Formats: sequence, C-alpha cells, structure tokens
Amino acid sequence: MRIAIIGANGQLGRDLCATLALEHDLTPLDHATFELGDPAAVEQLVATNAELVIHPAAYTNVDGCARDPALAYRINGLGTQYVALACQKLNAPLVYISTNEVFAGAANTPYVEYAATGPVNAYGWSKWAGEQVVRELLDRFYIVRVAWLFGGERNFVRTVLRLAANPPESGLRMVADEVGSPTYTPDVSVAVMQLIKQPFYGTYHFVNSGACSRYEFAREILDQAGYGAVPITPIALADYKRDSTPPPYTPLANVAGAALGIIFRSWQEALAAYLASLKI
Ligand SMILES: NC(=O)c1ccc[n+]([C@@H]2O[C@H](COP(=O)([O-])OP(=O)(O)OC[C@H]3O[C@@H](n4cnc5c(N)ncnc54)[C@H](OP(=O)(O)O)[C@@H]3O)[C@@H](O)[C@H]2O)c1
Repeated sequence: MRIAIIGANGQLGRDLCATLALEHDLTPLDHATFELGDPAAVEQLVATNAELVIHPAAYTNVDGCARDPALAYRINGLGTQYVALACQKLNAPLVYISTNEVFAGAANTPYVEYAATGPVNAYGWSKWAGEQVVRELLDRFYIVRVAWLFGGERNFVRTVLRLAANPPESGLRMVADEVGSPTYTPDVSVAVMQLIKQPFYGTYHFVNSGACSRYEFAREILDQAGYGAVPITPIALADYKRDSTPPPYTPLANVAGAALGIIFRSWQEALAAYLASLKI
C-alpha cells in the first residue's frame, strides 16, 4: 500500500517508518518539507497519491502549548483538519495519533477507549480538537491514543539515565502522584501495522500493559540500568512547577485492540528491550 507518514522524523514517526517500510511503499514527510501550519499542506498531501495517511506529527511541547494555546490549536487542531481534508480528497483512511492527555485524569481505573474525555490543559484540548475534526470529516479513520512514549532520543527514560549518570546534589526527585502507561514506540509501530490490515475503524488505546507513577517508572529505569543505588525522593505533582498541568491519572486500557488480537507486553518488558537496544 502507498502510505504517507507525516512527522516522519519524530520519535514515533521514525519507528513507524522503519516498521511499515517492511511491507509498504512509504512517502515520509518531515517538518522540514511539510508544515502542518500551512493550508498548502492539503494539496501537498494529495500529491503523494497515498492510499493511507499516518499522522503522528504534533506540537508536542506541552509547556509551549500552555504558553500559546492558539498555536497549539493551529498545529494540532487546524493542522489535523488539513490532513483530514487531504484524506477526503484522496479517499484514503487516516491513522491519527492522539494522547492520554485527552482525559481529565480524575478516574481511579484505566480509561477505556469510549470513556468520556475532558482535557485539562491546552495540549490536551488541541489534540482533542484534532480527534474531533477527524471524526467529523472522515468515514474511515483509526484514532490511536498512545502515552508516555519512549524509543527515540528525547524521552523520560533518557532524562532519568542522564540524571543517574551525573546526579544533582539534591538527588533525583520524581512525581509520585502522576500515573500513566509507559509505551515503547516500536511496539506501537508493530501494532499500527497490524491494525491497518483490518477495516475496523475507530478509537484505540495502544499502550504497553500495566501502569505506574513517574516515581515508579524512574525507579524501574534505574534498577534495570544498574543504578539501583541511586536514591529518588518522591514528590507531589503540586510541588513540580511547570507551565502545563498534566492530568494526574491516565493509564489507558487497550480493550478495542485486544479484541482484534493486538496485545502489548508489559511496560517493564518493553523498557528492558529499549535499554538492550541502547546496549545498557
Ligand atoms: N511523547 C509522548 O509521550 C506522547 C504521549 C502521548 C501522545 N503522544 C502523541 O504521539 C505523537 C508522536 O509523539 P512523539 O513523541 O513522537 O513527538 P515528537 O518526537 O515531538 O514528533 C513530532 C513530530 O512532529 C513534527 N512537527 C511538529 N510541529 C510540526 C508542524 N507544525 N508541521 C509539521 N510537523 C511538525 C516534529 O518536527 P520538529 O521536531 O522538527 O518540530 C516532529 O518530527 C504525537 O502526535 C503526540 O501528540 C506523544
């Protein structure tokens, strides 16, 4: 199948390209050549003649989104509208990558695919706007929500490893009351490749199984990477000041994908695979 992948140079985009190239004819579009903030994106995408479009590109700087919500909307909301309009013209299904941050985070059990959403920050609102425009404009789409991604070069795992190699004098401090689903980008990519073989359009939660707090995630990273002796102090989300406030509890349950046989290993096993890929 001819597939156009937007955001091809991003953390998830790179793995999607590597995986899907095994079975498909890809047109990778990176930020240098394709601008979501430009209406010309519609015709540029149409010119690829793609039979399916995958859209993991986004303005992912959550604090930047909080400082400039209008920009967040223009890229993640309106930019996704351009992509959906192009898919209409191409008569091609769209895979839109969304986020755990469409949820409010006030639940106490993992969110299923059809749980009520309720973003609490500008990034979450902008990604929700992207989801809605896909639902409103297209008949054939897969909305794939992912969370707490690791697999590329800039992510929480890399940050913790960097801190562990050169710990600050005050030691490591990690939030203990923000809970989510750490997810390995190669696992998402394989799952997307399985999903697009089937015409079961709709909303999916593609995350590694299990959930943890940021504190527990950091502890596991340190233990698996041989930094077991490095101490971490748990802190409260309220004490970690930043421009964007994350929803506190957003583990996602993969119900819809599992019903199709798309199953994820645990986040701890996925973390071990990532560390092994880094030769750690
Ligand atoms: N990372 C996470 O933990 C996480 C969690 C939940 C959901 N998600 C979602 O998963 C997807 C992939 O995330 P990721 O971690 O792979 O993000 P990423 O590494 O930041 O990749 C996003 C890509 O989009 C590109 N991009 C940004 N603004 C653009 C624009 N205006 N026009 C065209 N391209 C643009 C970026 O290019 P530049 O870098 O050159 O700007 C980058 O290559 C995103 O949709 C994100 O919302 C991520």
